Amino acid sequence: MTEINNDLLSVCKRRGFIWPSFELYGGVAGMFDYGPLGFSLRNNIVDTWRDVYKGGEGFVEIDSETVNPREVFKASGHVDEFADLITYCTKCNLPFRADHLVKEFYNNPDVLTPKELDDSFAKHGISCPECKGRLGPVEEFNLMFKTSIGPGSSRVGYLRPETAQGIFVNFLNLYRYNREKLPLGVIQTGRGYRNEIAPRQGMIRMREFNMMEVELFVDPEDKDWARFPEVADQKLDLVPNTGEEAITVTLEEAVEKGIIANRVLAYFIYVTKKFLTRLGIDESRLRFRQHLSDEMAHYAADCWDAEILLSYGWIEVTGIADRGCWDLSRHAQFSGTDLTHFKKFDEPKEVECDKVKARHKALGPAYKGKAKAIADALEAKNPSDVRDGKVTVSVDGEDIVLGSEFFEVARAKEKLSGERVVPHVIEPSHGLDRIFYSVLEHAYSYDSKEDYTVLRLRPEVAPIKVGVFPLMEKDGLDVLAQRIHHDVHSHRVEAYYDGAGTIGKRYARMDEVGTPWCITVDYDSLEGPQKGTVTIRDRDSGTQKRVAADSVSTVIDALLGGKSFFEL
Ligand code: GLY
Repeated sequence: MTEINNDLLSVCKRRGFIWPSFELYGGVAGMFDYGPLGFSLRNNIVDTWRDVYKGGEGFVEIDSETVNPREVFKASGHVDEFADLITYCTKCNLPFRADHLVKEFYNNPDVLTPKELDDSFAKHGISCPECKGRLGPVEEFNLMFKTSIGPGSSRVGYLRPETAQGIFVNFLNLYRYNREKLPLGVIQTGRGYRNEIAPRQGMIRMREFNMMEVELFVDPEDKDWARFPEVADQKLDLVPNTGEEAITVTLEEAVEKGIIANRVLAYFIYVTKKFLTRLGIDESRLRFRQHLSDEMAHYAADCWDAEILLSYGWIEVTGIADRGCWDLSRHAQFSGTDLTHFKKFDEPKEVECDKVKARHKALGPAYKGKAKAIADALEAKNPSDVRDGKVTVSVDGEDIVLGSEFFEVARAKEKLSGERVVPHVIEPSHGLDRIFYSVLEHAYSYDSKEDYTVLRLRPEVAPIKVGVFPLMEKDGLDVLAQRIHHDVHSHRVEAYYDGAGTIGKRYARMDEVGTPWCITVDYDSLEGPQKGTVTIRDRDSGTQKRVAADSVSTVIDALLGGKSFFEL
């Protein structure tokens, strides 16, 4: 680990941002708990994301179950496809992620097959990194945590590896809620679980992690986006999968040149950039990299990763994927439920198509009084319902199998008011813990000469917005400071009261956790020409001003709303 990781992680631990889980029992790799300040920072990131998607784009938010029955992940493909390649040492039995063992020889080792990895071990003389024992054959390891729903193994379930499936299995509910219209944007935040073979790099690869996922259902033939023109001339740093170096292009150019497949994908790549930079991610350390075709998840037709440059290197924090019709088609197929959207034509269209036509002359004598109902049921069938020359209809609760003497499949003209289409899904999926860590790393600044740490967190995400200090905890200074603290809190703004130690130490404690402003109540606040005023100090400039004690919460609200400290 580099110095910045160590220093930052020690600040995070000491000041209550994150703690390795179960430290009391020796810890478990890849698991972390959020302390009070970390949880608050994480919530602020989630609130910003909500503002972008619910407030900014008009999407809706749901919360679905984390334990899902097997059927969900059989349909989604995760039971069969969601695996990493593993090898066990034949001597000490330790497991290793096979691609990690050959990473120095390939740019992208995670696309290698088990056979290629076995061959690569032999070619490069790779043995167990722990005991130098021989490595066993490379095999697939499914990353989902398996469980049972109910006692015993009555029903197999899995902890969800992505929150997205909870949105897909609720598609019909959401579609009706949206009055059967597209586009339909749905967001969900919550835990995902992946039984990583070798969690590493601190919070970058966790076994239980937090996601913020967005699933946007669109008309498959209309991957335009009404708001695209608003951002068409904005620039993006892109690394396309064609092997070119990073390029900087406008969104319009990216779509026109076919670098990004469609406007809706391009628009949400840009929304992701705006979101991440709003959180404080440095724009010059942010890029979008297109997945190679053999790197893509089993459900994706195209995928761009938002990558942030951290002390670990370029790290993926968000995937923006075009999942096409994969999820809804699979859930429709596995559940036997129609999950299509009825797309109305501007004008009804006359089309020629194959139709099932009843042979009335044969039905009458054979079915007498029921013939009309059977004929109607027959004509409601599709040609695809004909199996081995027979069709089954249900009339008055009775299934009747009809041979071809009772119907024919013939060309007919029909007026259609619309057609049924399977919506496509565009998915910006954010790894919340990785974003959390990136925000901290990009905000972290350490002055080694002064041995002084400042977290330059954006006010919107800072866990504490304002520190409130009485110069001394006596003479009524504390009473006024407590009143201000209470007042700020009553505006639902996180404030922290601190009366201990020198003022310099109190500023340092607040700087270290990223608090943007501090209020100090001094003797001038109580008497003399400045009576009724307090100082407000700006973290980033170190500048101080005096403001009315009664106006502190209004001033903080204005600063949080974007007013500059220097305009106060
Ligand atoms: N839903 C996207 C992912 O699981 O990464």
